[in-house]
Amino acid sequence: MDHFLYRDGVLHAEDVPLPEIAAAVGTPFYCYSTATLTRHFRLFEEALSGLDHMICYAVKSNSNQAVLRVMAELGAGMDVVSGGEYARARAAGVPGARIVFSGVGKTRAEMARALEGGIRQFNVESEPELIALSEVATARQLSAPVTIRVNPDVDARTHAKIATGKAENKFGIPIARAREVYAEAAALPGIDVIGIDVHIGSQLTDLAPFEAAYTKVAELTETLRADGHAIRRLDLGGGLGIPYARDNNAPPLPLEYGEVVKRTVGHLGCEIEIEPGRLISGNAGLLVAGVIYVKSGEGRDFLILDAAMNDLIRPAMYDAWHDIVPVEEPAAGADYAPYDIVGPVCETGDTFARARPMPPVAAGDLVAFRSAGAYGAVMASEYNTRPLVPEVLVHEDQFAVIRARPSFDDIINRDTIPSWL
Ligand code: LLP
Repeated sequence: MDHFLYRDGVLHAEDVPLPEIAAAVGTPFYCYSTATLTRHFRLFEEALSGLDHMICYAVKSNSNQAVLRVMAELGAGMDVVSGGEYARARAAGVPGARIVFSGVGKTRAEMARALEGGIRQFNVESEPELIALSEVATARQLSAPVTIRVNPDVDARTHAKIATGKAENKFGIPIARAREVYAEAAALPGIDVIGIDVHIGSQLTDLAPFEAAYTKVAELTETLRADGHAIRRLDLGGGLGIPYARDNNAPPLPLEYGEVVKRTVGHLGCEIEIEPGRLISGNAGLLVAGVIYVKSGEGRDFLILDAAMNDLIRPAMYDAWHDIVPVEEPAAGADYAPYDIVGPVCETGDTFARARPMPPVAAGDLVAFRSAGAYGAVMASEYNTRPLVPEVLVHEDQFAVIRARPSFDDIINRDTIPSWL
């Protein structure tokens, strides 16, 4: 459930009509709902109640400072994957002790910064990374808390570009080699091995792969404990999917996911961490765009929007479906006709939807992409020198611009012409 509903014939974000925001900031813009972010976080809190746990919001899904502050105030930890995300989390007021550092290619500079600034744990993904971390930590006479990410070779049954738990993926160490790598880690100075990490992919719509992976992690916990390792923390990653199309079968709920966690690893007496991103921020955001033209083509009609693939890349990159709805509520019994919904960028890939049934729409109308709060603004670029889309946060009847649209001068002045030109 989200807080983007039609009221008096107009789509609202909580208590704010979207045309009011469009009039103030122009289109396109991203719009997030505080109540929805909060609700989604609390669903996970409920799902894991009774377990010693921490919900580490996946910063990559939406890293705006205001969104991170909402999460921090709810008591979330953070999962970061770069020095930049670490800095963002700290700037939003999250203490280092609540930040976990994931990622397959952490640099020594990133490790040093997190070690010095404070970190809950590093989720280490390879032996060379362990050695680098050991050197960085010992050079500072520090000790790095570590979980090792295992690759359980489980098929997450999601889009190939976002599946991470199969043996052929670049992530983690093969679970079959875990005992060997844990033994190596335990012998390294500056490394404090405290647990196991796993993440098998994103937008999972089925619980079976989670169950399979977590069962393997539970077995590994027992094995490693028998080998003498004090395994006391399990990071189970993120990945629970969201409904992108309203009329489709809904993915499992956090509560059902929580049951799987409890059933598979609940008996081990470990601290449990999860790293959800999309389920918290995805349906808490819209991308609102204006219709520039309605164009009749050969055997098809196009809706040409002022948003494009550089603003929301998911359809071009993952063939993703986003519901696209008019901001003005369609009349009851309105006639729907198919449109190809596209942006102004000079690529055919700049297509959001093909033959999408839409009620009557005219130039100047507003439309909203649903489920755009995760992996939307964070993946945007300024391709075609289209300024990054502004972000707006709504709280009840208030809204605030939480990232302004840059001007053309802002963009151009980032470049420098060398003195010899
Ligand atoms: N933890 C780790 C280690 C991850 O790699 C990810 C996502 C998450 C947590 C959060 O997963 P979530 O709960 O959001 O599914 N850009 C793609 C999604 C990439 C996900 C990458 N890793 C998309 O737009 O679908």
